[in-house]
Amino acid sequence: MSSLMASHRGFLAERPYEPPSWASHLSPIPSHTRSLAHLPTPIHKWNLPDLPEETEVWIKRDDLSGMQLSGNKVRKLEFLLAEALAQGADCVITIGGVQSNHCRATAVAAKYLNLDCYLILRTSEVLADKDPCLTGNLLVERLVGAHIDLALADLLKRRLIEEGRKPYIIPAGGSNSLGAWGYIEAVREIEQQSQTDKIQFDDIVAACGSGGSIAGLSLGAQLSSLKAKVHAFSICDTPKYLYDFTQGLIDGLQASADSHDLVNIKDAKGLGYAMNTAEELQFVKHIAEATGVILDPVGSGKAAIGMLKDMKENPSKWKSHKVLFIHTGGLLGLFDKVDEMKSMVGKWRKMEIDDTVPRVEGTGKML
Ligand SMILES: Cc1ncc(COP(=O)(O)O)c(C=O)c1O
Repeated sequence: MSSLMASHRGFLAERPYEPPSWASHLSPIPSHTRSLAHLPTPIHKWNLPDLPEETEVWIKRDDLSGMQLSGNKVRKLEFLLAEALAQGADCVITIGGVQSNHCRATAVAAKYLNLDCYLILRTSEVLADKDPCLTGNLLVERLVGAHIDLALADLLKRRLIEEGRKPYIIPAGGSNSLGAWGYIEAVREIEQQSQTDKIQFDDIVAACGSGGSIAGLSLGAQLSSLKAKVHAFSICDTPKYLYDFTQGLIDGLQASADSHDLVNIKDAKGLGYAMNTAEELQFVKHIAEATGVILDPVGSGKAAIGMLKDMKENPSKWKSHKVLFIHTGGLLGLFDKVDEMKSMVGKWRKMEIDDTVPRVEGTGKML
């Protein structure tokens, strides 16, 4: 048992799982979870500039669900890694883009739980023979010693089994029906916070990549007392693909619901997954300066752009609404954009100090 596992009874512990009463008819119901996220994440008012009249936006800070283990993926991993351990796995394989937040969170969580982690990072043919570098999410993955392959999940699984290992495969983004429970649980959390703070949200907005977060959120929003309308902004695929994909996840829970009735999915991918225009990066900078909230350029940034665009084009749709925006994390991905953002951030300057101010010479001193 690793020292981390032994150190704290709550964090990392296995817990028997009881679904919310409104989700107890779904099937299969997971038997256990692993406590990986720092929950509940806060909800606070978000004073975004240029909102329609009387529209209030609140933000749920799932970016604060941890540090290395932060963002929306950790909620899904609580269920997925509990299953991996229950099946006696000794390693996990998962897949994502080169700056995948999901791969980073999986690599860290796996190590905490004494599982080896194999990451398949999708890259272009041109870059496949090159070292994928040490920036942002990749730095964390490599620090915790994840095995990084620019290969295929099935091939890797076969090889590991031949070597006598017991791999557990986590799909891209942790998005299958089991992972979706992470956001069914998030709805229970929002429901409790809304009751405590006496606030009724009309809408919930989130980024949608691999679809698992939206499947859980939208199903939970309909089944629970929240009844908020869920709006998803797609950051990598077409809305049609995502309606179909989330439908599969919902069917996998025997929920008898149509994804088109549960969620409104709009395209916000722009140039493509993890690719940004200068305007999008400028937007991230603008919102950070105006509100202190740092969005990531891949997920929450594109969702916020999509939401504000829709609010501008259809103000009556949002007028007097209370909207809850889910910040799905991804801060580390911003480090991959440093070169593109250099010209946008404030310039530094050296303070002019006149000769009467005493100086302490030497490097390595604190002051
Ligand atoms: C920061 C961030 N937000 C949102 C998403 C989308 O979440 P999901 O994959 O559950 O649809 C992703 C995943 O790509 C992400 O990395």
